[in-house]
Amino acid sequence: MFELTGKVALVTGASQGIGEVIAHKLARQGATVICVSLPSTEGDLQNVAEAIKAEGKNADYVLADMLNAKSVKSAVETVLDRYGALHILVNNAGVAKDKLMVLMKEEEYDLVLDVNLKGAWLTSQAVAKTMMKQRWGRIVNIASVVGQMGNPGQSNYASSKAGLIGLTKTIARELSSRNITCNAVAPGYIATKMTESLPDEVKDGFTKQIPLGRMGSAEDVANAVVYLCSEEASYVTGATIPVNGGMLMP
Ligand SMILES: NC(=O)c1ccc[n+]([C@@H]2O[C@H](COP(=O)([O-])OP(=O)(O)OC[C@H]3O[C@@H](n4cnc5c(N)ncnc54)[C@H](O)[C@@H]3O)[C@@H](O)[C@H]2O)c1
Repeated sequence: MFELTGKVALVTGASQGIGEVIAHKLARQGATVICVSLPSTEGDLQNVAEAIKAEGKNADYVLADMLNAKSVKSAVETVLDRYGALHILVNNAGVAKDKLMVLMKEEEYDLVLDVNLKGAWLTSQAVAKTMMKQRWGRIVNIASVVGQMGNPGQSNYASSKAGLIGLTKTIARELSSRNITCNAVAPGYIATKMTESLPDEVKDGFTKQIPLGRMGSAEDVANAVVYLCSEEASYVTGATIPVNGGMLMP
């Protein structure tokens, strides 16, 4: 149990999957959680915020497209207008467009880099001054084991996630003097909508490579995120925490 009462947290990609679970977990520790995602997901975002509030916790939602710098800036301004502070940013929004490199179109490469990497840069830049003035901040980037080990068919996705790890270390160095930490979580194979449609033999193949013998859950990822957002993690920065069941021990 970590104490996040009084903290305002923004979670991108919170309309479903891992982001939704992160939003719930942060709210259960006492944070006011602002769920952010694409305008097309407004119904889902609203449901996530309502479900958190139904547990007696604090939540709100704001629409933003990580592909649009103005939209990201205006989402952060909306949060600051409504709450007057922003302590925690979780860069979780992400997309995949898998294809072997020789078949991949330039637009497919750019789209994945723009959402997963540039999107995290835009949101981090938009919150940095506020966190610097507060002299307290936590930025957590959701990377992937694929950014650490590579994966056929994911040259765009692996580049974006490896880039996020470099971005994490750089933000950690730039903002450390203001008591702001920046870390990454690198999940392995996590059971979500994205992975549930895979054929059983593919899932079994993945599971065999995992020493702990199972796919991870969104809760496993969210537990690491909540720790990194806590006061207890105040001496951890620039780190990438693997949540992969031992599949890769970097
Ligand atoms: N599922 C896995 O096995 C796994 C493993 C490693 C890392 N990850 C990473 O975890 C994160 C969440 O994954 P997930 O499985 O929950 O994915 P998901 O597809 O279920 O959810 C992605 C979220 O990002 C949002 N999003 C997509 N494009 C956006 C944009 N342009 N602007 C704003 N929001 C946008 C979506 O609306 C959604 O809320 C991603 O960064 C993903 O790369 C997932």
